[in-house]
Amino acid sequence: MRLQGKSAIITGAVGNIGLAATRLFLKEGAKVLLVDRDTAGLDRAMKEFSANQAEALVADVAKEAEVARYAAHAAAKFGGIDIFFNNAGIEGPITPIAEYPEDGFDQVMDVNAKGVFFGVKHVLPKMREWSSMIITSSIMGLRGGVRSIGYVASKHAVIGIMRAAAKDAGPRHIRVNTIHPGFVKSEMLGRIQKRNTELGLPAGDAFYMRQVPFGIYVTPHEIAQTVLFLASDDSRQVTGQTIAIDGGYML
Ligand SMILES: NC(=O)c1ccc[n+]([C@@H]2O[C@H](COP(=O)([O-])OP(=O)(O)OC[C@H]3O[C@@H](n4cnc5c(N)ncnc54)[C@H](O)[C@@H]3O)[C@@H](O)[C@H]2O)c1
Repeated sequence: MRLQGKSAIITGAVGNIGLAATRLFLKEGAKVLLVDRDTAGLDRAMKEFSANQAEALVADVAKEAEVARYAAHAAAKFGGIDIFFNNAGIEGPITPIAEYPEDGFDQVMDVNAKGVFFGVKHVLPKMREWSSMIITSSIMGLRGGVRSIGYVASKHAVIGIMRAAAKDAGPRHIRVNTIHPGFVKSEMLGRIQKRNTELGLPAGDAFYMRQVPFGIYVTPHEIAQTVLFLASDDSRQVTGQTIAIDGGYML
């Protein structure tokens, strides 16, 4: 029970990675506020969890008032926040740069960068001493990627947000880190594969796995295990770090 007595907020809580983290956090004894804009997904997830340990809140992380609302709700419910998994994200358009639409760029930045910033702005002041924030970036936050300039920009942006927040929160012994998942077999990757196939480009599993030294997909549970390490007291002095979970893709 590595999170016994701790309270957590998870955004994007019913996506592939968020749900794996929610399950693991609950198993390790935390109380969790699940935040997502997917109402049906939250309803489905809550059938699996005990109301003593988990609560769902519908919010769009790109809307500041909704972020302020979930932050205030968690603080009132828990009396303070120990873990904030600032994780919700979208892939945005999968399109060559010359055709990449302005509104698509805005949309992906609004969710992936501004949504993370709003979370930092409203949750960080409510976090306890010696607490932990984990922000989900991507391997695309550490290097370039084709046909996804908005996503790449947004996932680099959150490293800056993380470093600014980690410095600011240091005197309160609050750690802030980014995680950088590699290829996870997920709805998100499925959409990217479909779109690349439509564009006549290689997008099969073999194409992705050739780029990964381990040659296998990362599972959501494997991502969640690293998040658990960062959420637990085992990582007390780890802050300002970018941690890839990618089977060696970044090598
Ligand atoms: N799947 C991958 O291969 C992969 C790789 C690297 C990084 N990531 C990142 O991991 C994070 C989680 O992705 P995932 O793989 O679980 O994808 P997913 O699509 O399964 O889950 C994303 C979740 O975020 C929610 N969400 C999206 N926009 C939101 C908004 N504006 N407000 C509130 N909730 C919103 C969705 O409803 C969904 O439940 C994302 O930040 C993503 O960019 C994913």
